[in-house]
Amino acid sequence: MKVVTIIGARPQFVKASVVSHALRNAGHTEILVNTGQHYDDNMAKIFFEEMAIPQPDYNLGVGSGTHAAQTAAALIGIEQIIIKEKPDYVIVYGDTNATIAGALAAAKLHVKIVHIEAGLRSYNREMPEEINRIVTDVLSDLLFVPTQVAAENLKKEGISKGVHIVGDVMVDALLNYTKIAEQKSTILDQLNLIKGEFLLMTIHRPSNADHDERLLTILDQVSKGNIPVIFPVHPRSKSRVELLINRISGDIRIIEPVGYLDMMMLEKYSRMIITDSGGVQKEAYLHQTHCLTVRNETEWVETVEDGWNILVGNTLDRIPVLLRNFPKPLIWKPRYGDGESVVKIVALL
Ligand code: UD1
Ligand code: UDP
Repeated sequence: MKVVTIIGARPQFVKASVVSHALRNAGHTEILVNTGQHYDDNMAKIFFEEMAIPQPDYNLGVGSGTHAAQTAAALIGIEQIIIKEKPDYVIVYGDTNATIAGALAAAKLHVKIVHIEAGLRSYNREMPEEINRIVTDVLSDLLFVPTQVAAENLKKEGISKGVHIVGDVMVDALLNYTKIAEQKSTILDQLNLIKGEFLLMTIHRPSNADHDERLLTILDQVSKGNIPVIFPVHPRSKSRVELLINRISGDIRIIEPVGYLDMMMLEKYSRMIITDSGGVQKEAYLHQTHCLTVRNETEWVETVEDGWNILVGNTLDRIPVLLRNFPKPLIWKPRYGDGESVVKIVALL
């Protein structure tokens, strides 16, 4: 079988790190397309190197821009590749502009679409990702969903054919690379951190990262925890954070985005994570690290139900109290699978 796989942004590199190898080991031909939405070395190259992701066969160099510009450039590039390569399937991951571009290009050329991490919903259409998810799921032929909740979300939209609950490939990546990170990562020493005595923060959603007042309030509340905060800053908010941080008195340490191995160690050994990332919320649950999510809703509802994740998007003033005293979680279960998600996907393909 021949597949064209579309990646382009950081979370997709993580997912491809486990799926691409499995596809190739099973004897399939994979043409890997990197749209180039993320292009800084520490947003892209470091993942290819650390996780030995195969070199892309095509780099579209889409880069930054408006949603239309980014999606359109990827769409045009992917269309040409599908016409030339004539794959049996196009594989897309998650919910970025690369995802919707891949799905649209394939659908118009009547090539079957595989959506990995299908069925997630925030029910907030102000998020660009929600639009990307809905459109991609409608167009997909095989929908690999991580959870029962995701399958039910699709059912509500009339989608049940081709839906398979396979767990989350990010669990496969996390289990594999956390072991390697324990051996290889030196980030805790480099930053002089004691396990359990620091916080980890990531913020990149436009609703938080693109507004001075909002971002300043988040930084201010998090700095009141009286514990060092490690903040690998997404390039989206770099210049804004660098300006605002001078107005904060607490110990927030701004660093460049880190590679996946270092990230696993920071997530695992932080006392608590403060984030608006989808992937990081889920990884917090998997590492059994308490998490405050700076959003009003989440796609990863299980993390909240089980008491590991608290949504603080519209109650930022609760952050200092929660940093000092996070309520004991109710339960932990392997909600996102057992790390064998990729095996299931390859078998179903
Ligand atoms: C994108 C995804 C989002 C995902 C996130 C993961 C969409 C709509 N959004 O958001 O779903 O959660 O990636 O990180 O696809 N920039 C750089 N260098 C880079 C990449 C970005 O400087 O390598 C800067 C540019 O100023 C750019 C901005 O970051 O305009 C935003 O990048 P973009 O890819 O548009 O969106 P993300 O916020 O990264
Ligand atoms: N990540 C990383 N280094 C960082 C920040 C995030 O390796 O400095 C990883 C993180 O562990 C997760 C993925 O990138 O696997 C999540 O990406 P991001 O938060 O950018 O996007 P989202 O999941 O919100 O789409």
